Amino acid sequence: MEVVAMKKKDKESQPERETTEALLAEGRVFRPLPELVVDANLNPNDYEEAVQKARHDLEGFWEEAAEDLHWFKRWDKVLDRSEAPFFKWFVGGKTNIAYNALDRHITTHRKNKVAIIHEREDGSRERLTYYDLYREANRFANVLKSLGIQKGDRVAIYLPNIPEIAIVMLGCAKVGAIHSVVYAGFSAAALRERINHAEARLVVTVDGFQRNGKTIRLKEVVDEAMTACPSVETVIVIQRMGVEVDMSDGRYLWFHDLMKGEPASFETMAMDATDPLYILYTSGTTGKPKGVVHCHGGYGVGITRTLKWVFDIKETDIFWCAADPGWVTGHSYIVYGPLCAGTTTVMYEGHPLFPGPDRMWQIIEKYGINILYTAPTTIRMLMRFGSQHPKKYDLSTLRILGTVGEPINPEAWVWYYENIGNHNCPIMDTWWQTETGMFMVTPTPCNVLKPGSAFKPFPGVHVDVVDAHGEPVQAGKGGYVVVKEPWPAMLQGLYKDPEKYKEVYWSKIPGMYLAGDIATKDEDGYFRFQGRSDDVLNTAGHRIGTAEVESALVSHKYVAEAACIGVPDKVKGEVAKLFVTLKEGVEEDEATLVNELKAHVRKELGPIVVIREISFESKLPKTRSGKIMRRVLKARELGLSEGDLSTLDD
Ligand code: WTA
Repeated sequence: MEVVAMKKKDKESQPERETTEALLAEGRVFRPLPELVVDANLNPNDYEEAVQKARHDLEGFWEEAAEDLHWFKRWDKVLDRSEAPFFKWFVGGKTNIAYNALDRHITTHRKNKVAIIHEREDGSRERLTYYDLYREANRFANVLKSLGIQKGDRVAIYLPNIPEIAIVMLGCAKVGAIHSVVYAGFSAAALRERINHAEARLVVTVDGFQRNGKTIRLKEVVDEAMTACPSVETVIVIQRMGVEVDMSDGRYLWFHDLMKGEPASFETMAMDATDPLYILYTSGTTGKPKGVVHCHGGYGVGITRTLKWVFDIKETDIFWCAADPGWVTGHSYIVYGPLCAGTTTVMYEGHPLFPGPDRMWQIIEKYGINILYTAPTTIRMLMRFGSQHPKKYDLSTLRILGTVGEPINPEAWVWYYENIGNHNCPIMDTWWQTETGMFMVTPTPCNVLKPGSAFKPFPGVHVDVVDAHGEPVQAGKGGYVVVKEPWPAMLQGLYKDPEKYKEVYWSKIPGMYLAGDIATKDEDGYFRFQGRSDDVLNTAGHRIGTAEVESALVSHKYVAEAACIGVPDKVKGEVAKLFVTLKEGVEEDEATLVNELKAHVRKELGPIVVIREISFESKLPKTRSGKIMRRVLKARELGLSEGDLSTLDD
């Protein structure tokens, strides 16, 4: 393989287009910048050593990573396999992720360091130091205690990208309550379903927030959900926009009233390493979302180690993960990971295109951001507006870039590399999932990169690509993505559904965790992820179960049957195409029906479902047992033979 050093190119002599095409045609690879490697937390020798150490002593490797964190009591056993696939890490150990994220920094030089920089859409900003955040989280922990919330109780958090979401999450962790964050773009129906499944006693929300020049009145969505949430005793409302809200229901209380009366000190509870920290619902192959459970100990170890090595976190860094805390990316790498690593994390409340397509670049210049981690969809979207926008800003503080959530096409990779990183920043394409909790397949800044590849498994992580029998596939051949050994941030199970946990992840290829993705590995062992192998589509990095869309559709009075498939989209990766058969006697014209059904899906699931097209059919292809064959629809749609789709189908 030919290797080129990452160097500033002479833009005049090499026009952008030509460079891009040349790179793709030649299949060049990118060697790390010497100046980056010199100071890296992990140099190429360390990397090799880590890989070897992890290969020979998996437990010892992760045990060493655990030393980075505070333990009230050290573990008795690193990994307990006795109840596999319910693997338990750091058994007997006592810790608390909030203690690691906040309390332990307060006695160090980090006490007055900025923990969170928050940028509102209107450009105003707020900064919280570690000490500020610590005191606020303590106050909120005291609020929870006053409300009688105890260890193991569930708290639903329906908040956007504002500092209070971190305060509330950390406050929950401090008292040992289990939080369930519901992304603020989800509908009332989706929120209600998640609250009820978790039997949350408390909900925390906000009057409204800024998004795309508008005020989103989030509290009103909660009102709608609350009509059928019997477990909820209290709803705490944060006052942010000052919009009028109805507080007449006796369950509603103001956040600021509650916080005012509480002391800023709190004794963070010592939790078992395996005690649950949160539930995060994600889409799978059934009509109902799955409640993925993560814990305090192994999860904290996994996300802290991966963040420090992959993004090479330095004491002076400002780290921007431009995701939303409502997804796992935000849990692990906006809130818990960066704070455990003691870095400064950036939260941006608004839309990346508001008021214009230069907003992200402007934020990077404004704060001197060093590391940017975002989704390929965002890169592709901004790429379409052209490189004149990033050129207007000083992006020279950037040292490392990252992507997550979906495959990145080499063209977008190279655009990101050239125009945002200015040929000076390696791109960390991180493959992982809600279930894995932490980066699984990812480079570090000391590895040689290939555009469009997420490199290889992180040291101590055993991801592979196998056939249906669990045998490794040859280089270049597609197969199922599996994990062959436990890893510390792995899910603890599915909330209230241990059987489903076993069935979904551990039964199809015995002894291995089945991720639900398909990928290839090349002759150098580099992974290329191709998408999901199950009935989950990935729109703009968001997971949407086709069965969830279908059950939303059939709940409409006109719909008899429905099928949903993912079709490729240049910007969003994949979007939904729907096939619908109508009940007898529906007389509305097609355009009205399309609008109504789109609105209905939006109401049931929220705006994250992007529908390209709705096609009305007289009947849908089915198996003899009556199961709708989505793969046939997909084959027709993509102009493939059914055989071509065999690996796409689970
Ligand atoms: C996809 C997001 C290709 C994949 C952290 C996975 C990716 C699903 C990548 C998980 C990547 C995530 N390259 N595909 N770098 N990262 N995916 O649970 O299909 O929201 O299974 O977690 O996103 O989505 P989730």
